[in-house]
Amino acid sequence: MKGSAADMNARATRFADRPPIAFGTAWYPEHWPEERWEKDLAWMEKANFNTVRIAEFAWSTMEPREGEFDFEWLDRAIAAASRHGMMVVLGTPSAAPPAWMTQRYPDVLRVDEDGVRATHGGRRHFSFASERYRMFARRIAEKMAERYGDNPNVVGWQIDNEIGPPSFGPEAEERWHSFLEQRYGTIDTLNERWATEYWSQHYNNFGQIPLRATGQHNPGLLLDFKHFTTATWTDYVQNQLDAIRAHADPRQFVTTNTMFWNAGFDHYELHERLDLASWDNYIQDADPDWIANGANHDLVRGYKQRNFWLMETQAGRVDWVPINRALAPGQVREMGWQAVQHGADAILYWEFRAARNGQETYYGTVLGQDGTPAPIFNEIAKLGGELREAMPALADTEPVYRMAMLFDYDSRWALDLQRLHEDFDPIREFTDFYRPFRLGSQGVAVLPVDAELSAYPLVVAPALNVVTASDAERLEAYVRGGGHLVLGPRSGMKDDANALWPQRQPGPLEPLLGAQVEQFYALDQPVKLTGAFGAGEAAIWAEWLSPEAEDVEVLARYDDPAGWLDKKPAILSRPVGRGRITYVGAWLQPDMMRRLAEKLMADEGIGPILSTDSDDVEIGARSGAGKTVLIAINHGDEPQPLRSPVGAERIAGTVTNGALPAHGVAVFRVDRDMLSTSKGATH
Ligand code: GLA
Repeated sequence: MKGSAADMNARATRFADRPPIAFGTAWYPEHWPEERWEKDLAWMEKANFNTVRIAEFAWSTMEPREGEFDFEWLDRAIAAASRHGMMVVLGTPSAAPPAWMTQRYPDVLRVDEDGVRATHGGRRHFSFASERYRMFARRIAEKMAERYGDNPNVVGWQIDNEIGPPSFGPEAEERWHSFLEQRYGTIDTLNERWATEYWSQHYNNFGQIPLRATGQHNPGLLLDFKHFTTATWTDYVQNQLDAIRAHADPRQFVTTNTMFWNAGFDHYELHERLDLASWDNYIQDADPDWIANGANHDLVRGYKQRNFWLMETQAGRVDWVPINRALAPGQVREMGWQAVQHGADAILYWEFRAARNGQETYYGTVLGQDGTPAPIFNEIAKLGGELREAMPALADTEPVYRMAMLFDYDSRWALDLQRLHEDFDPIREFTDFYRPFRLGSQGVAVLPVDAELSAYPLVVAPALNVVTASDAERLEAYVRGGGHLVLGPRSGMKDDANALWPQRQPGPLEPLLGAQVEQFYALDQPVKLTGAFGAGEAAIWAEWLSPEAEDVEVLARYDDPAGWLDKKPAILSRPVGRGRITYVGAWLQPDMMRRLAEKLMADEGIGPILSTDSDDVEIGARSGAGKTVLIAINHGDEPQPLRSPVGAERIAGTVTNGALPAHGVAVFRVDRDMLSTSKGATH
């Protein structure tokens, strides 16, 4: 029976007869003599792998000369992989156009913002706007889909590989002009929205508008550049998606692997037509910040609000930071379980075996160049064994969320374009808010601003800088209907052309808040503040808030002496309808942020799934189909006490004398469902 899109919610693939969790690796059969394949695949089986991703950089092997295709090696590689029990994900090779193409048709090459064309030799050297390039990319994707679209061993497709860098050549410029025309309709509307009277920027027609991403340009133009790259990448992906869908079994999924906070395009929009989100999780530092990495997973899960694939993750170390230290023993397994806890239905390592040459010879691998296991092999195989045991429990489950946070690309870009304080990094600010909420609730959904929010008792938007009139309407309905909306500093300042709202912050949300921001201040040193939940400090940014409505409560004030901010309100809250809106006007330092988060969660009855005394211990749960899987991970170097949940069966990991060992994991199964947004503790 062919599955429907709904089956994709919480299962690695749409094939009913395939494992619900994929575990495997990127494999490059084209790097090795064929007689070696069997041995490599046998090692994969020993590593408990069930999946390989193939071909995403193999264009020059699949089409060695223009229009001359050779897929026989790939037929044999897929067949060999499936003999060893591997599901196959096929990558289209468009991240690496071959030399015959770039030499004969240099117009396919990317042009940077200064007009310099890329040269051949690396990857991603193509232009996302080139019609000719799209024709070639579509053709190879189509050939692959014709050949493998009904191959039952192929469970899905990855389009391209980590798309991102835009191009600025004449074709891009042409697309830019028609994009703007479509967005604004008339040049007068554009002039009005961008306020082009400023510095005599008035345009007579769309053809006059420069294609720029950086520099002293109108903020409306710079934000629209991001809208343009979103539209162009979406369309670029669609080109191959159409080619694949025309020939592929509907059970084969189509995805593209992305890079979490990558600022190149709006990931929500790009994923609208793809079946699932997948991403590449690398940690550059051997001392991972587990909460920040958890936020990365939650962000990616929010792209489609569905379980996702970890299409790549490191087998130990990376090769692109000054000191590429390996993760400590146990941390690769920890990262694997963390991904699963946050909603990954697949984990694939990059890469399987050290390539003999090429730009990434020193990367962490599962096998060495000699084809025998690297020291990390056993840890990966152990994780694979555990996942296999846990699969029946994990099947058809999704992460349990207690609350939500909003991440909005327009707001992030608008802030990045005009930080006012060099340290106002919107991702850092988001993560600072996320941290205590994740610790306290053990389940935070990260969502776009237009998501359905009514299931979440608490929704936090750390810096919702850009708010449109329709966003404001939806948020108001959420609050009036009983939700608690918390806005962070710099919220409600801009519209989606990056222009200031004519009223003060929070712009169209001002009537709902019954208050406004009198003035904002970039801080060169922290200011103190005191509130209903104790005293603390704010740094980088602070706003002076002014209540207007009578029922506005002041939750915190800046202390005296703080210059302009002396005794001024810093945090306000107001009951509205059946819900509440709170505005936090300052970037609170960790202590105070945590106390505020705890108060807000307590007010909404949000508690942990399983309480723990250590911030090194990450607890999270997946639930569905009448069962719940609770995953506890000790990310620290010391054992930590762990109370086993009542009525639970341990299905993986160890608890020794009531403690979770350093870098240890324990996984429990409980035979009942836990609703995704239920509030209180369940165990
Ligand atoms: C990315 C790419 C891979 C490889 C890894 C190594 O995720 O997709 O091809 O280069 O990085 O960091």
